[in-house]
Amino acid sequence: MKKIYHRSIINMMLRLPGSLMLLFVGCIFGYAQKNRPVVDVDKAFQLAAKQYQGMLAAHTDVTKFPQSTKPDGSPDNRAASWWCSGFFGGSLWYLFEYTRDNKWREAADTWTMAVEQQKFNKGTHDLGFMLYCPFGNGYRLTGNQKYIEPMLTGAASLSTRFNPQIGLIKSWEKHDNCNYPVIIDNMMNLEFLFWAARQSGDKKFYNLSVTHADNTIKNHFRSDFSSYHVVCYNPDGSIFRKKTAQGANDTSAWARGQAWGLYGYTMMYRETRDPKYLRQAEGIAAFMMNHPNLPKDKIFYWDFNAPNLPNEERDASAAAITSSALLELANFSKANKKKYIDFAEKILVSLSSPEYTAEAGTNNHFILKHSVGHKPAGSEVNTPIVYADYYYLEALLRYRGMKK
Ligand code: GLY
Repeated sequence: MKKIYHRSIINMMLRLPGSLMLLFVGCIFGYAQKNRPVVDVDKAFQLAAKQYQGMLAAHTDVTKFPQSTKPDGSPDNRAASWWCSGFFGGSLWYLFEYTRDNKWREAADTWTMAVEQQKFNKGTHDLGFMLYCPFGNGYRLTGNQKYIEPMLTGAASLSTRFNPQIGLIKSWEKHDNCNYPVIIDNMMNLEFLFWAARQSGDKKFYNLSVTHADNTIKNHFRSDFSSYHVVCYNPDGSIFRKKTAQGANDTSAWARGQAWGLYGYTMMYRETRDPKYLRQAEGIAAFMMNHPNLPKDKIFYWDFNAPNLPNEERDASAAAITSSALLELANFSKANKKKYIDFAEKILVSLSSPEYTAEAGTNNHFILKHSVGHKPAGSEVNTPIVYADYYYLEALLRYRGMKK
């Protein structure tokens, strides 16, 4: 079929007058140029594979999950109950998706199953990160039925944290003097509940996600589409306080928080097709992309309003999440499609450069350098962090899909 198609294009070209033929060839060339990938995804994945091969060799104990680097330079590992335990398995699935090499599938399965017992954990809102990143990708890529039950049990655990009186999932047990803190990050755990609604046929998961997202629009966002990190609620659903935990101050725009919001509302639109979520995602994107404190290489400072700009750390994780989110948002926005792809591409070019990508064999086997976990607490400041790698690989795969 393809050959016949190509031959008929060539025959048609030969019958065209010279100038028209030039125009025709020019158009095809122009189209090919426009669609040409600027980011070398193959090279990035080759390096990622080298790093994660080393990571697997250094992590033979599946109760110690790669997280980051300690201030003394040694690897910082965490337990399965830490909110980031699903990202390593998730990244291994992305390596399998890219290479189709069964060695990654086996490793991914091992590190996925290592998180399984968290399905009973009712003490965290992060079960989406912990279970859906590894199990969800594993199920998507293999169809293996054994991944279903842990996710459905986990989704039921997560939904116990939803208080119908307040209309939101509780994030942390307690924070300062807040008894019912909800953080913008929580938007990221709703994707898991949408999957559970589809899989189980139980609409409850869908409805509570929509209610949580609507109340977050109402209470977390400012008029410029930036968001507070934490909103503390009273038992009757009224607001006790709006503040930050990981940002520079209560009224600042913590970079990763903005990225979680962008990703979360893009996902909300994908799942519901309700235009208000698309408007929200586009508003957040505009806030981030047009911010006066945006660095040239598009890798955000850890907080848009950090006090000592430009002498502040960058957060590669916020950039990686944003890049992945914009590549999805581009599918939904005719007007801004090109803008979103160009911005995401610029982020990926920067992240793939030696400034942010570690040399093979360095960086405790993480792919990216220069993320910020929790600067006010002095934790993970300018270090690799496991979720920066995860969203970087996801963005590269989305980018590859788009450029194909
Ligand atoms: N969800 C916690 C963080 O983004 O640091």
